[in-house]
Amino acid sequence: MRLLFLRVLAIVSWVAGALSHRANHVAHRRHAVESVTLARARRLEAHRNITIHIGLKQQHLDGIEETLMSVSHPDSPMYGQHWSPAKVAKHFAPSDATVSAVESWLIKAGFHPDQLRLSRSKGWISIRTSVPDIGFLLKMECDVHTHSPGHERISCESSLVPEEVREHVDLIRVTHVHKDAPLLKYSNHTQSKTPSFSKPLPDGIVVHGVPSLANCDKFTTPQCLRQLYSIDIKPEVPQRNSFAVVEFTPQAYLGSDLDLFFSHFSTSQEKKRPVLVSIDGGVVQQQNQSSTYDGEGDLDLEYAMALIDPTPVTLLQTGDLVQGGGFDNWLDAVDGSFCTFEGGDDPNQDGVYPDTQPGGFDHPESCGIIAPPKVVTVSYDQDEFTATVAYAMRQCYEYAKLGLMGTTILYSSGDYGVAGNGGACLQDKSRCRPINVGKGGRFNPSFPATCPYITAVGATQINPNSTVYEPESACEQFAHSGGGFSNIFPMPFYQEAAVKGYLKNHPPPYTAEQYNNSGMVRAYPDLSANGANIVVARNGNLSFTYGTSASVQVIGAIMTLINDARLARGKGTVGFINPLIYLPAYSSAFHDITTGSNQGCGTPGFTAAKGWDPVTGVGTPNTTVLLDMLLRLP
Ligand SMILES: *[C@@H]1O[C@H](CO)[C@@H](O)[C@H](O)[C@H]1NC(C)=O
Ligand SMILES: *[C@@H]1O[C@H](CO)[C@@H](O)[C@H](O)[C@H]1NC(C)=O
Ligand SMILES: *[C@@H]1O[C@H](CO)[C@@H](O)[C@H](O)[C@H]1NC(C)=O
Ligand SMILES: *[C@@H]1O[C@H](CO)[C@@H](O)[C@H](O)[C@H]1NC(C)=O
Ligand SMILES: *[C@@H]1O[C@H](CO)[C@@H](O)[C@H](O)[C@H]1NC(C)=O
Ligand SMILES: *[C@@H]1O[C@H](CO)[C@@H](O)[C@H](O)[C@H]1NC(C)=O
Ligand SMILES: *[C@@H]1O[C@H](CO)[C@@H](O)[C@H](O)[C@H]1NC(C)=O
Repeated sequence: MRLLFLRVLAIVSWVAGALSHRANHVAHRRHAVESVTLARARRLEAHRNITIHIGLKQQHLDGIEETLMSVSHPDSPMYGQHWSPAKVAKHFAPSDATVSAVESWLIKAGFHPDQLRLSRSKGWISIRTSVPDIGFLLKMECDVHTHSPGHERISCESSLVPEEVREHVDLIRVTHVHKDAPLLKYSNHTQSKTPSFSKPLPDGIVVHGVPSLANCDKFTTPQCLRQLYSIDIKPEVPQRNSFAVVEFTPQAYLGSDLDLFFSHFSTSQEKKRPVLVSIDGGVVQQQNQSSTYDGEGDLDLEYAMALIDPTPVTLLQTGDLVQGGGFDNWLDAVDGSFCTFEGGDDPNQDGVYPDTQPGGFDHPESCGIIAPPKVVTVSYDQDEFTATVAYAMRQCYEYAKLGLMGTTILYSSGDYGVAGNGGACLQDKSRCRPINVGKGGRFNPSFPATCPYITAVGATQINPNSTVYEPESACEQFAHSGGGFSNIFPMPFYQEAAVKGYLKNHPPPYTAEQYNNSGMVRAYPDLSANGANIVVARNGNLSFTYGTSASVQVIGAIMTLINDARLARGKGTVGFINPLIYLPAYSSAFHDITTGSNQGCGTPGFTAAKGWDPVTGVGTPNTTVLLDMLLRLP
């Protein structure tokens, strides 16, 4: 896979050692060190200046799952009573006691109060200081690791975080203060785009033939999807509704491609465009035009827009042309409370703004610039192992907060089955480093799909020579539906019965060497939709594309249409749907997918089966039934 994000900072990392014993999340304890093991290269030079960012412990995170359930579980008396952003921010903000405990520790250690800066959200305290000072005052030692030529990480350990402070600290991140730092390319395997097909087809394989309902096994069009999933809702209140698609610069769409697509499949939309929201200097660049640059944006927007017309689609174009952006960047933009100055984001994963590089977005980062859209789809993912546990957790809690505010967050589950991006698998024992596909190798789950507070969408197909009226299978053409079990996140309550049922009734032929088979970890995907033979207009031609990028847009469109119907009847949006879709009472709203599997790592992967499975989740929606059920809820 091509590298999506070029990272330009010689930065990074966080302190684990001293903090590892206090974290009160199961997964923290298990993985309190950087998940990517790197050989120590050298001690950090003493003349370097660094900034230490101390992430303060938020309140009430332990109860976040229950809090989210209280507004998302249909049996809860508070169902649908979503919280305001202000209430969410206040409920979770670090307490004053936390702020003052950490401040007084730092001042006692010898820092001048002027050196400390508290972020607006009270989430972080930052100290700009020098290497000798942190060594002296905090007994912190920092090493520089060179991961690949030009890619450096700083990691530090402190033996001096006192017990009474540890409970107030979530994570510590150290960044190099980079003046005239050389441009460094970020390593290959962090955040990679979910490809819209796993085996790239030549640019512009042209669709020959006339797509119609009669040949949906060969050409998947909006018309086929409407038939497959009984999508038949005419938006009544499009202007009161919202649906956003996230793209990361330099990924872009071409207006001419949208028009070509609309001319075939949605004639009323010609010349329509998404509403652009530029996050951290995000631009729809037109300089480079190819399937690599436009394949994702074209696909996402063509299907999102066609299926919910005339409801407007918002494009959250994230990151400037120099650094790009990461998941935290779009989250900052929709929730100001997630945003912090200088260091809320992980420079190893996200763009850090202002970006003073030539051509960079030299402005404060986009922080709370729009209200959270009611449905957000993201066709990008990263291998879970490339995120530190602290980073993944913090981001995952943010998704829970957005769910609490009534937003449905949908991520594609990945296109490589049980393997990670590019087909990479993990080394058996360490679970840390990827090895090439072959026999063996630990399965490589995808993040944020493994976050229990998002909805992960897998891919299905109409079987070759079958009709649109027959049952689908898991997608096995070019792409294989991402699915499996997290190495970080514990199992959320809502999927316990379904996942345990699968493991018991259809025990996969693998051991704990391949995946965490304890029945105690988050499993994905949650549901699925078609991702095979998708007809897209791309770089001037109609072509085919494959994968969960398409699927996630289909589910996003369906949830948006259901929101419209609810809004038109004076009800709220559906928000976080997972607690609902796993309930037996809702199973009739899904076509259970029972055939196909998601190969990878030299194995056939998991197999779809009756009930939930780690290939297609609970199945594909019947919108008519789902709408009816959701309209009955308050
Ligand atoms: C570190 O900061 C000090 C004080 O601001 C400054 O004099 C020095 O030049 C900085 N060193 C580097 C390498 O940037
Ligand atoms: C990065 O990608 C290039 C080209 O695909 C490859 O040659 C190189 O080995 C990769 N580096 C790492 C660290 O994976
Ligand atoms: C376009 O491609 C060229 C050559 O690969 C590259 O140098 C340039 O940065 C790209 N521009 C954008 C906007 O991505
Ligand atoms: C589908 O039908 C074509 C033409 O009859 C045939 O050649 C092909 O083998 C069939 N494919 C499958 C998977 O049955
Ligand atoms: C699997 O997950 C459980 C629950 O989080 C954990 O206790 C166990 O150690 C994990 N197993 C492995 C092999 O990581
Ligand atoms: C794709 O479109 C371009 C311009 O619209 C055209 O020149 C090219 O021949 C097309 N590709 C194929 C494979 O037909
Ligand atoms: C969806 O459910 C409705 C109502 O039960 C049914 O009439 C329709 O045939 C179903 N759609 C599909 C594609 O199965």
